[in-house]
Amino acid sequence: MVEGHEAVERLERLTGMLRRRGVILPAFEIHGGAKGLYDFGPVGGRLRANVQNVWRDHWLSQGDVVEVSCPTVTPFAVLEASGHVAEFSDFMTVCQACNEASRADTMLEDHHPNPDALSMADLQALLDDVRPSCPSCGASEWSPIVAENLMFDTVIGAGSSGRPAFLRPETAQGMFTTYPAIYRHFRERLPFGAMQLGRGYRNEISPRQGMIRLREFNMAELEYFIDPESDVVPDLSAWSATSVQLVPADGEAFEGTIPKALADGIILHPTVAWFMARTYDLMMSLGVHATKLRFRQHARDEMAHYALDCWDVELHGSYGWVECVGIAHRGCYDLEAHERATGQRLRAWRTYPEPKIVEIDGWTIDGAKAGPAFRALAGQVKAKVETLAADTVFPASIVLDGGDEVTVESEHVKRVQRTESVAGEWFIPHVVEPAFGIDRIIWHLLDHAYEESGAGEEMYVRMRLHPDVAPVDAAVLPLFEKEGMGALASEIHRRLCATRGVLASYDGSGSIGRRYARADEIGVPCCLTVDHTSLEDGTVTWRDRDTGEQTRMSVDDAVQRLASR
Ligand code: GLY
Repeated sequence: MVEGHEAVERLERLTGMLRRRGVILPAFEIHGGAKGLYDFGPVGGRLRANVQNVWRDHWLSQGDVVEVSCPTVTPFAVLEASGHVAEFSDFMTVCQACNEASRADTMLEDHHPNPDALSMADLQALLDDVRPSCPSCGASEWSPIVAENLMFDTVIGAGSSGRPAFLRPETAQGMFTTYPAIYRHFRERLPFGAMQLGRGYRNEISPRQGMIRLREFNMAELEYFIDPESDVVPDLSAWSATSVQLVPADGEAFEGTIPKALADGIILHPTVAWFMARTYDLMMSLGVHATKLRFRQHARDEMAHYALDCWDVELHGSYGWVECVGIAHRGCYDLEAHERATGQRLRAWRTYPEPKIVEIDGWTIDGAKAGPAFRALAGQVKAKVETLAADTVFPASIVLDGGDEVTVESEHVKRVQRTESVAGEWFIPHVVEPAFGIDRIIWHLLDHAYEESGAGEEMYVRMRLHPDVAPVDAAVLPLFEKEGMGALASEIHRRLCATRGVLASYDGSGSIGRRYARADEIGVPCCLTVDHTSLEDGTVTWRDRDTGEQTRMSVDDAVQRLASR
């Protein structure tokens, strides 16, 4: 929550500027807008792309991660298997006076340390007790709380042949369902990761906090597939002197290092620790302030339905501490769920150090009888029969992984008794997932970078964005547009824009001071000014946003410096 008069005013000035300058602005405003939907405008579009590119390069540099792109429209069956149809809900209550829906836990934040973790019954009891005021009309009569699924539903196809579907609530499921292709790509050797940048959708009950709670948002997720029995641990020595703020689920917040928190059993898994450390580096390279970042571990009852351990990266800004990244150990939850629902094998092969000699005493199917009897299901029946104990009595009723129930007669099966040398086994990989809310991160980059000096009419704004994410790399400013200065500046502007990875703006209106201020306000790291000397010797002045220092250099040097950043 924004607290204090000054903080509220600063937030209003910041959001006003972002809107006025075309960084972030409410979408569809000429039609009245729609809550929870925002545009990245003419300045914000590149800011977003830059943040996404830094994210992409950071994870690809690991060498064992690939980027994929899966559809946002997702069949019902996929999200039913993943548990989202049953579990992906928030508790909703509706104001009896004005009909405005609200999230029950949000309404009760001032009355409980963590209402998000309460059961529906406990939340109802607290709501009845507190009777908070409706944020829209101030009344305090509420409907009984219900669980409201947050997915947007849709239909794939038309008419009665249409299949029910949803807009994806996370990019992750596409990466689980395409797991066999990723496994093949990596030559069937774990560990490896797949990552994806794209849109996610959640029909939030009452999005009231600007960029913090959106109904359509930019996600960036990485699913890292590991062998749960592997004893290879990531090397965390590079972070042994990096102190971070940690808030464990049990116990007090403290300053410590990630390797030590792992050694002390606070972080539960080395791969989770690895992704925490790498995420910390990423946040620093984006320009997050280290003092405004903390890792908070989820309590058991707060975790998503799939998670075994989860650490949020929370960033501090105008809205207090906000979850911007979740680093979750999802175990084998997802692959197992999709395997169960489809009967497809979503596994990896683990070779034993030495082959094992095993006594096989069980069953298999008699293909000549079982094939015609079970037809398309024969493969699944075989897989199931081969797991049955030697003392199984037939006929036996068995449930296949795809959910079908069949009766297996004694004529369908053969007893198998032999000694075998087994080289390895199939297992379901575990997954560690760092999931990033790109919009929330961008909001905090802006919030951290936004610096005001002076007051009232004299107030000066400098957005100290990291040059790697700044929406424009350089502003080219002719001192005057006459005497050939405007033409030279335009030529330099064109040359910069044609340079790979560089985007420049041209600004010829108003005094030079106002033009510096316009560039500083949106965080342009440098201004190149073309003056009379430029016409004589082909130099420009390079003015640094953060220091105001001016250096004269040749146009070639300026272009080179920007191109090599
Ligand atoms: N995949 C993590 C999330 O949906 O938040």
